Amino acid sequence: MVVDILTLAPGYFASPLQEGMIGRGIRQGAIRVRIFQLREFSTDRHRTVDDRPFGGGAGMILKPEPIARALNFLRQVPPGPPQVVLLTPRGRPLDQALVKKLSGKRRLILICGRYEGVDERIAAHYCHDQISIGDYVLSGGEPAALVVLDAVVRLQPQVLGCPESKDEESYEDGLLEYPHYTRPRIFEGHPVPEVLLTGDHERVRHWRRRQALSRTWEIRPGLIREEGLTPDDLQLIREIKKR
Ligand code: ADE
Repeated sequence: MVVDILTLAPGYFASPLQEGMIGRGIRQGAIRVRIFQLREFSTDRHRTVDDRPFGGGAGMILKPEPIARALNFLRQVPPGPPQVVLLTPRGRPLDQALVKKLSGKRRLILICGRYEGVDERIAAHYCHDQISIGDYVLSGGEPAALVVLDAVVRLQPQVLGCPESKDEESYEDGLLEYPHYTRPRIFEGHPVPEVLLTGDHERVRHWRRRQALSRTWEIRPGLIREEGLTPDDLQLIREIKKR
């Protein structure tokens, strides 16, 4: 997979691209990341990329021409047609289902917005999607691009060591993940739940399911989709609701 990032702050990506799973994915050749300075696609002497908003108001807006020029250039560069995504707090919320979709693309272009926003004609005529990483406003799209990149890299088939660990974790089945414990058995007086020490795989599986359901019900009830639940799950949710 190839990910092109269009940004006014290329230096922002220097160390994140070397570390952790993104770094490993790049070194293993599972993903190629190319960073492009938006300012290079400006044509005036001052390398202007922003301007005041029509209609008045505070702040500056990213002009459409440099971004359009960059995208027209990138479209000519291999490997073939990209999925173009604008990172913006006005976008569609990123979730694991969207990450999965993006991770299957051969090529992504991530545009990092800045200032008060990006001229709407870029979103309307040059982008396939607009994505937000959460209901808060960042000073630029760069952290959001890194979030997308990290989430997408770890789903590349060649990257994560243990394939089943991707299916069991939070959000893969729409629920928050059950809690994890490791040694010591007693930490500062707090013991590990007994059931995890029994070696009874069926009881462990059942306990984990209960934990996942009750935690999701308590803190993210909106994630629960009845269609994905077994009769046992539904019974458990009825019990939790009574508590
Ligand atoms: N740019 C600024 N805030 C953002 C957010 N929450 N998500 C994506 N891009 C952004």
